[in-house]
Amino acid sequence: MGLMSPRSVSASRSNCISFTLLLFGLILCVLPHLEALEEGDPCTLKGNLAGICQGSSKCVPRINKYIETKRLTPSDIPSCGLSTREEIVCCPVAECCGDDQRQESTSRSPLPPAPSPRTDVPRPAVQACRAIETRQLEYGLTEHILDGIAVDPGYYPHMAAIAFSEFDNIVFGCGGSLISTRHVLTAAHCVNDPNKIPLFARLGTVNIDNVSEHRQDINITTNINIHPEYVSTSKYNDIAILELAEEVRLTNHTYPACLETELFDPPSNASIFVAGWGIMNTTTRRTSKILLRAPLTVVPLAQCNESFAAQPLSQRYLDKGIINTLLCAADLIKGTKDACQGDSGGPLVLERDKENNKYSVMGVISSGFGCATITPGLYTRVASYLDYIEGIVWPNGFV
Ligand code: ARG
Repeated sequence: MGLMSPRSVSASRSNCISFTLLLFGLILCVLPHLEALEEGDPCTLKGNLAGICQGSSKCVPRINKYIETKRLTPSDIPSCGLSTREEIVCCPVAECCGDDQRQESTSRSPLPPAPSPRTDVPRPAVQACRAIETRQLEYGLTEHILDGIAVDPGYYPHMAAIAFSEFDNIVFGCGGSLISTRHVLTAAHCVNDPNKIPLFARLGTVNIDNVSEHRQDINITTNINIHPEYVSTSKYNDIAILELAEEVRLTNHTYPACLETELFDPPSNASIFVAGWGIMNTTTRRTSKILLRAPLTVVPLAQCNESFAAQPLSQRYLDKGIINTLLCAADLIKGTKDACQGDSGGPLVLERDKENNKYSVMGVISSGFGCATITPGLYTRVASYLDYIEGIVWPNGFV
């Protein structure tokens, strides 16, 4: 997949196609033409500006801003082709404009000022993170797990508890992370059993039972996107995206999180936490009513691989070993903290800038040999799956 790897397309002026730019009423006959592209396909505009093929009527407001600010001229908008109704044009992915536009416009942009001059447009996950972190200020966000500490209300407003129906009971069997107003990121193995259908996501609360004004239970649609390469007999590609039946109400207790885009492990002193309502004690198997979190350390893949290779069963589930789409984390200090049953699907959070409350979901809790054993916990590395996630959450490339 990968909407944001724009195909390199050659613009030619050979096919003259006319389209009406509503505001300007211009009939353009000399458009650059992109070969055989369809609505939704990535494309490139002048100056390597990333675009997406879209019906001209939808794109006009955005194009107009580029034209008004003289960033593009009408003839810089390539045509992708014709639909039955209208011209499909290469529409810039990003809203116009960066720094120098600010004095002219009083309307507030959802994105922070872009570095200028901008030659490239960040991928949707990066754009979404900017929007999340900008709006986060408006909400003034406040300040599970084995050996965890209770999470303050509003501290991890992206946390979702996923409710399943099991023998007429509602069971909160997995965690998840809100990553847009309508999508929850979780583990594929949580939602892969046809007899265990996820019903709703509980958001906005740290106490899973408390009825509060902040709590939002939102139904999960049947549109359950399990990673296409996930197979239940192995631990790879353990990632899925659930679609919510309606948009969440954004509050300081319910708010999406950024997706981590850095592919490499963070430094060993990075501040990372695992969070969930899962088992707290492997003997009693009691789960937590309160959201817990525990600090962990990322274990380098080579070291993690050795640790798993020593496990007799690991070949069966991890035939390729610990590859870089996985991420390992453990409590290297006391060896008592870890995710455990019931935490799966929840996040491994990287706190990038604690003071400014900037954090990203770096991993999805996936598996482990036991809990808090000598093998690290295994996580699905979110940055390895951005194309997959973006293709579902922002299918047109627009955030
Ligand atoms: N598979 C477990 C679940 O479904 C999560 C296991 C995580 N284990 C670990 N040792 N980190 O909830």
